[in-house]
Formats: sequence, C-alpha cells, structure tokens
Amino acid sequence: MQAQKAPGTEDLVGGYMRAWQRMSDVARELFGTYGFDAIETPSMEQVDVFVHGIGTSTDVVRKEMFRVMSGTLWDKVLEQGSEQGLKPKQRLALRPEGTAGVVRAVVENNLVPQGAAPVKCWYAEPMFRGERPQKGRLRQFHQVGLEWIGAPDPAADAECIIILMEFYRRLGLDPARLRLKINSMGDPACRPAYRDSVRAFILDHADEMCEECLERAETNPLRAFDCKNDRCREVMEAAPKVTDALCDDCRSHYEQVKRYLDEAGVPYEEDPRLVRGLDYYTRTVFEVETADGNGQGSLGGGGRYDGLVEIEGGKPTPGIGFAVGFERIMIALANQGVDLAGPEPSCVYVASASPEQRSAVFSATLALRAAGIRTEADYQGRSLKSQFKQADRLGARLCVVLGPDEVAAGTATVRDMATHEQESVAAAGLADRVAGLLA
Ligand code: HAM
Repeated sequence: MQAQKAPGTEDLVGGYMRAWQRMSDVARELFGTYGFDAIETPSMEQVDVFVHGIGTSTDVVRKEMFRVMSGTLWDKVLEQGSEQGLKPKQRLALRPEGTAGVVRAVVENNLVPQGAAPVKCWYAEPMFRGERPQKGRLRQFHQVGLEWIGAPDPAADAECIIILMEFYRRLGLDPARLRLKINSMGDPACRPAYRDSVRAFILDHADEMCEECLERAETNPLRAFDCKNDRCREVMEAAPKVTDALCDDCRSHYEQVKRYLDEAGVPYEEDPRLVRGLDYYTRTVFEVETADGNGQGSLGGGGRYDGLVEIEGGKPTPGIGFAVGFERIMIALANQGVDLAGPEPSCVYVASASPEQRSAVFSATLALRAAGIRTEADYQGRSLKSQFKQADRLGARLCVVLGPDEVAAGTATVRDMATHEQESVAAAGLADRVAGLLA
C-alpha cells in the first residue's frame, strides 16, 4: 500500500515551497523595518501554556489541540486508563497558534525585565489544530505572525494593523479586495459587566439557541458570537454590543487607534460582534478577510493581549500582535491570479560528450558552484542528446559543453539555450565568463 500523508496536512514542495519562502522573505524585510527580529519557539509546549493563555472554554483548547506523548508514556497512560497521574511537564501539546508560546518564551527568558525596551519578534512556523479538514482549513497549517510585547500605546495597535495590510499588499493581494474588520473587546474593568449582559441575553433567548451556546452562557458567553449555527448567529445579531459597554479608558484607546488608522489612510469596518476565537484578547481586535468572502475563513487576525504575560507567569506587561495563514493567502492569491512562487530558479548545465570528460565536468561544476552559480550536470550516464534535453527540462539558461577537443585545449563551449549561440571560453576563466553572461 502506498504511504499517504495525514489528513489535513500538505507537503510544501516546488512552487508551493518557493511561495512559503517568499512569504517569509517579505515578512523578514517588512517586519525588519519596524524593528522586529525573528524568533522560533518549540513546536510543542506544556499543555498549560495553551490552556491558561488561550482559555479553557475556547474550541482551540477544548477540541482542537493535538496532544503529544512518547511511546513509553502512552503505554503508561493506557495501563492506568487515564492521564491523571502525569506531571505538568509530561502533558504536552503541539502549538495551535504562536502567541502563547512566544509570551512563555519572553517570560521564561526574562526578555522584558522592568523598564527594558519592548520585545518585538516575528515567526513563520507550522501550527496544528485538529479541525475537520477542508479547503483552507488544515490540521497542520503555516502562520507568519508577529508579537510586540511592552507597548501600551494605541499607536502600536495602529502600526500592527498597518504592517498587516502592507504585508498583504507586498505579497500581491489587491488591498481593495480585502476587508479589515476591527473592534474593541474591553478590559477587566468593563468586560465582566458586558459578559454578564451577553449571558443574560442568551438566557433570555434560550429556546432559540443551540445546546452549546447555552453551555457557553455559563462558561464564556462571548463565544456565542462565534457559533457556526445560523440561527444562533441571527439571534446574536441583536445581542448587546461591546462598543456600547466600554469603560472610558478602553473607549479612548479605541478612538485613538481609529484616528491613527484614518491618518494612515487605512480603510476599516467596525464590527462590534468581532470577538476572535482566543480568550487572551483585550481592547483592540482585528481580522482580515477577502471582500468577495469566498468562505475559506479569515486571511489573518490579531489583537491586544494586555493580560497574557501575567497569565504566563510574568509581570503585568501589555502585548499586541497578529498572524496570517499561508495556505489561505495562497488561495486568495490564486483567486486574484497572482503567482507568489515566481519562476523556478534557472541554472547552468555542464554536459560532456562522452564519459571520458567526466572529471572535467566534475571540476567545472565545482568552479561554477564556488562562484555561487546554480549548476547541474548528468549523474546517470546520459547521452549528450539527452543531457541537452535534461538541461532544457531544468530550465538551464546556459549549457557548458566539454568534449575531447575542449578538454585537450583547456577550453569549454558555452551555449545559450534560448538563442543557441555559442562561444569558446578558456577553462580557467569559465566561472567569470558564465557569471558575466548570466548577469
Ligand atoms: P487565529 O485567527 O486563530 O489567530 O489564526 C490566524 C490565522 O491563521 C487565521 O486568520 C487563518 O488565516 C490561519 N488559520 C487558523 N486556523 C487555520 C487552519 N486550521 N487552517 C489554515 N489556516 C488557519 C491566532 O492564531 C493568533 N495567535 C494571532 C495573534 C498573534 N494574535 C495576537 N498575536
């Protein structure tokens, strides 16, 4: 039986891989101008990092987290019939998102000691969520994201959103075909009362809402705004709006964020029902989708998380960030006819007329590669004709041909694969001449 990949996973190969690398390159360049450095945290963390950070009542934690266990531990759990006896450091999960792990790393490495400059970092990494696989919804997907820890200023919120929209533009997405939605989720001063009012609203409409939303009314009523059930969504349209319940500080923060966005000329829509699927958010939240809404879900989103550093064991420190999904952006780019991958890199092919010139080919490829030129040759004993065919298939721009005459004379024939023009070059100057022709 042919081996198959796990459901909801994809191989990054060929053009798809080039597109992912290009996306990371664009991120490095753009985020770098805003002072962000790359970070990589482990793919697995102790479950508590996610449970405390993302929230016990979120779908991401309750239903979608992939738990990880060594074979030995697995046997032990099977033997005991439960994981009750496991120590916290034995309870591991693959990261469903990047923020909680980055904040854990910032706290653990003491990157924001009192009074220090903010930490600004970005990542491009796979994430894992046990969702039902479908187009644009995977179990292993890739995010590019950034986290800015230690910046309470509303200008940081606006700048994050500006970076996000500029990132899409640089990837080739038409800004006019994107929809940016923003909201404020309030903070510990005003959200509890708001949460109570939403709970009361759900209970008032108990006969119209699904079982899960009734449960949410008790555990985390704001999650009812995310319910996939159409009837629940309709009912929640009339629920109290968070923007009517903000305290003065949250309101003025939100107003200032909007003023900065207006000043920067970034169009946005206010959506008082935007709550995002993770519990760590406070104040500003934002999400981007395609304006044609082709049902694949959001292209990216983020927000402020002023309580998360403390939740992960650090001193109270504000934070804000966002993440985008590579696979969903690829779908949006394809819908807009944009090829992020670009053409395959071209190369130079070194061919030999017969096996006697094999060692001359060997030295020529070494010299070309040492000069930084992507170089290919034959490793299967092909005839000269099929070496030319292979060079064509590989998209070689130049072919260096070494026959008995060339080797005897210490030269090489360099042939342009498009024009078929050729010239004789001294072997000693081959790399320089080839570099010159490619330039
Ligand atoms: P999120 O909205 O859960 O936020 O995910 C960000 C993006 O990841 C989504 O907009 C989507 O493009 C992509 N994504 C999420 N789940 C999947 C999936 N199953 N398949 C394919 N793509 C997916 C976060 O993860 C937050 N950590 C963002 C953040 C950073 N907030 C503050 N800092």
